[in-house]
Amino acid sequence: MAVDPAQRAAELRRLIDYHNYRYYVLDQPEIADSEYDQLMRELIALEQAHPELVVPDSPTQRVGAPPLEAFGPAPHEIPMLSLDNAFDDAALSEFDRRVRERLGVEQASYVAEPKLDGSSLNLRYEHGLLVRAGTRGDGVTGEDVTANVRTIPTVPLRLRSSKPPALVEVRGEVVIRLQDFAELNRRRLEAGERPFANPRNAAAGSLRQLDPKVTAARPLTFFPYGLGAVSEPVAASQWEILELLAEWGFLVDRRLLRRVQGLVGMRAYLEEILVRRPELPFEIDGVVYKVDDLAQRELLGATSRAPRWAVAYKLPAMEATTRLLGIIPSVGRTGVITPVADLEPVQVGGVTVSRATLHNLDEVRRKDVRVGDTVMVRRAGDVIPEITAVVLEKRPSEAVPWDMPDQCPACGSEVLRIEGEAAHRCMGGLYCPAQRVGALLHFASRKAMDIEGLGEKLVEQLVEYDLVRTVADVYRLQRKDLVTLERMGEKSADKLLAAIERSKDTTLPRLIYALGISQVGEVTAAQLARYFGDLEPLMSASEEELTAVPDVGPVVARSIAHFFSQPHNREVIEQLRQAGVRWPPVERPAADSAVAGKTFVLTGTLASMTRDEAKARLEALGAKVSGSVSKKTDYVVAGESPGSKLDRAQQLGIEILDEAAFLTLLEST
Ligand code: IVH
Repeated sequence: MAVDPAQRAAELRRLIDYHNYRYYVLDQPEIADSEYDQLMRELIALEQAHPELVVPDSPTQRVGAPPLEAFGPAPHEIPMLSLDNAFDDAALSEFDRRVRERLGVEQASYVAEPKLDGSSLNLRYEHGLLVRAGTRGDGVTGEDVTANVRTIPTVPLRLRSSKPPALVEVRGEVVIRLQDFAELNRRRLEAGERPFANPRNAAAGSLRQLDPKVTAARPLTFFPYGLGAVSEPVAASQWEILELLAEWGFLVDRRLLRRVQGLVGMRAYLEEILVRRPELPFEIDGVVYKVDDLAQRELLGATSRAPRWAVAYKLPAMEATTRLLGIIPSVGRTGVITPVADLEPVQVGGVTVSRATLHNLDEVRRKDVRVGDTVMVRRAGDVIPEITAVVLEKRPSEAVPWDMPDQCPACGSEVLRIEGEAAHRCMGGLYCPAQRVGALLHFASRKAMDIEGLGEKLVEQLVEYDLVRTVADVYRLQRKDLVTLERMGEKSADKLLAAIERSKDTTLPRLIYALGISQVGEVTAAQLARYFGDLEPLMSASEEELTAVPDVGPVVARSIAHFFSQPHNREVIEQLRQAGVRWPPVERPAADSAVAGKTFVLTGTLASMTRDEAKARLEALGAKVSGSVSKKTDYVVAGESPGSKLDRAQQLGIEILDEAAFLTLLEST
């Protein structure tokens, strides 16, 4: 059944009005701009085919939404028009043809500019002084945001000119640079506030703050692109206008502006911008071509909606809405589990996107993303696509909040969230297939088991061909397995086997470090070895016992205890032992040493050793080293230029050792 054009037009008007309201008034868009544009294009085409359907209140007959009531009105002496869009080369060529035809010229000269994706502004300067700043509003009347705009550093409060025109209006775009945007959202997250969906919303929202202090704290940047009302002619071409604006103190990014000739020049500029787009410091949604000569512009004139002398070539949008089919917990090399969005494939910025990162569980909760939701997907620069918002209106009634699984999807081990960290981790470090490559590389690394020749390429192959599943399998590798691998001759196979054999003779700190326990680096591994003396007592230590080890806090203790509580990890350790991995027990500090159990505080510089060395030596003797002086302190070691710790020690009557006395004490034990 054919759709009735009148009915469809009415429906489109209703839809566009609705989305206009959500976008402009509520600042809560529900569909991507590209989808909105699609509706608008359909309505324009329909009205062109059936002119009798045009009604005075059609969205095609106005430029935007009415201003909010909270700000005073800012009427525009010259309306702030929109731009006609071109979506392909044919439309661009058609624009150029019409311009040449109307002007009666062979070739037209244009200025090509990036189309900044921000919020447009009209700045009124009287005798060089900024007197009013208005948003675009409906194109005829905007909102008076002068107080807010005065806070934007890139807006000159006075034009840098000895004889400025009696009146000039400067028009341009307020944007937030991508870097500033990332920082702004980071801060908002930290403060527990809702992050902005994109820089454009953030810029528009910032301009419409009732308190200018809030605006001032937002990193807004103003880029001018033209003039509004003027008391006298100030330039003869767009290029001259841009040069004049730069002279007057505006931010004009000349590297992105070109004077181009005809269609050939326009195409070349477009090519260049497409290449540079991913590294531009701000978001652009197209490029704008403007007839350069102002007299020619006059001849071309404008429709009620847009000038005939300019066109916006739209680039593929960096945002789109699509459906969330699932959330996949994905285990990374280090055991961190990242929720990944499985999306119904959608075009975003010219690329098909079917996956987006959700970072971590907090992020999923904060955005309240649920499987089945319609979500907004965004790509910025060349980073991984992100889900920026959920369209709550389209949520299926059966959608439930998502949760992190209790068990690792790759190995079934326990999943734990380390306190103070946003990430969830799989505790099956040595066993988990998803972590195999990472665990093996760490195991073989120089400060761990130090197996020379066991590098990334090789480890990847060993895992891929299933020759190695856990780190213990390294000790079961045979010559006949190795020689089948890429770039592995008999000689290098023998060399590797010899290195593996050598690594069996290791030390306890190395072994502990090699296990790859989350939060346990080289230093902690050494402390653990010294404290427990052997692996057995460490494996059976409770969280509480573990916190008694120097430098081990509750978070680290928890991670260690959980690691050894996984049966898989214990199995691998047993296999290592059986394969012949051995280590001498570590001498535990003599309990009767003069400093054992005593608490030391170090201040000032020692001539004979660094503070870290002094600390290590004391700890090796069973002493504790603390950062601050208290009644529990036994000795304060004062080196050259000691700090306030010395004063405090004197106040409390604590024994103070100078460097010589300290060395004597060390030697006597
Ligand atoms: S010229 C009458 N130049 O795009 C022509 N506009 O759809 C006025 N925009 O509201 C616009 N970058 O906010 C022009 N280099 C540029 C632009 C630009 C972004 C925005 C502007 C305007 C909208 C038109």
